[in-house]
Amino acid sequence: MSETSPKLRAELAGIPTYKPGKPAAAGGPVAYKLSSNENPYPPLPGVLESVTGAALSFNRYPDMACTGLMNELADRFGVPLTHLATGTGSVGVAQQLIQSTAGPGDEVIYAWRSFEAYPIITQISGATSVQVPLTSGEVHDLDAMAAAITDRTRLIFVCNPNNPTGTAVRRAELERFLDRVPSDVLVVLDEAYREFVRDVDVPDGVEFYRERPNVCVLRTFSKAYGLAGLRVGFAIAHEPVAAALRKTAVPFGVSQLAQDAAVASLRAEDELLGRVGTLVCERNRVVESLRGQGWTVPDTQANFVWLRLGERTVDFAAACERAGVVVRPFPGEGVRVTIGEDEANDIFLKVTEGFRKEL
Ligand SMILES: Cc1ncc(COP(=O)(O)O)c(C=O)c1O
Repeated sequence: MSETSPKLRAELAGIPTYKPGKPAAAGGPVAYKLSSNENPYPPLPGVLESVTGAALSFNRYPDMACTGLMNELADRFGVPLTHLATGTGSVGVAQQLIQSTAGPGDEVIYAWRSFEAYPIITQISGATSVQVPLTSGEVHDLDAMAAAITDRTRLIFVCNPNNPTGTAVRRAELERFLDRVPSDVLVVLDEAYREFVRDVDVPDGVEFYRERPNVCVLRTFSKAYGLAGLRVGFAIAHEPVAAALRKTAVPFGVSQLAQDAAVASLRAEDELLGRVGTLVCERNRVVESLRGQGWTVPDTQANFVWLRLGERTVDFAAACERAGVVVRPFPGEGVRVTIGEDEANDIFLKVTEGFRKEL
């Protein structure tokens, strides 16, 4: 038997592993999961019905072209079918965008800290990450990001609102930034949390896509629409980017269950967006309570809040867990806490109150 193991690509060495939000402990008195920016509401009955209906034929492959969903999205956004691409969650589409644009020697720019998949999918492609620190106000530093562009830059992520800080960039600054990006560099506006935005100055990225062929908008059904477990996201982009997404897609990657649930969700949008409205009210209550307790909390436009706790991050997360809520610590930096059920938010606020007194 040979002593050597199969040769793997050198780029894979040292790739950070994606850390999913920790699940809530089973069997405890109460355990709420506020660690994955999920939607706390269970599926709507009509959406559930569409999934159970699709389940009756899961011995068959799904519609590879996602025809029903693509038609629905084309109507909803007023874009041609050729400008749409679906994928296994928006993270799947983000990975295809990098595969389509960047390889060894190329650079991908994004803010840091931001969505933790960016460094992973960049490294898998063999491209180099260029991480531009957030400002002291926890917002994208778009001037520094523009200054970081080189002739090797192929793609720039702007996560708006940003995961994990919840902060958002506004129309005028984004426009100024886009004006500085060469037209052969792809800008991906990752709008996974778009439906939670209430600041009217935070633009809908689709506005920018319409005017600029190098802008691509990334959206997901995982957050506001509550389909995280079904894995479906999509991009709106001009040709040739959308065509490249179709080429790099895993064949049959979006299940029929996911496609049918996404269509049913778009049709039940009023009800789902009503739930989003309730979560936004809860978010505002949580932020105001935290500020009332004396915490500095960046303005969040997403379904989570960010507390920069530095060295106390891990202790704080452990205190939350003991109290019955699981949050998302980034050791040495801070915690991200998803807005969940009212009772869960109350438990979190009790922990912050106690912790504040100890500071
Ligand atoms: C900014 C951002 N983009 C994309 C995603 C990926 O979501 P999904 O792959 O479930 O669509 C997430 C998920 O947490 C996110 O926070």
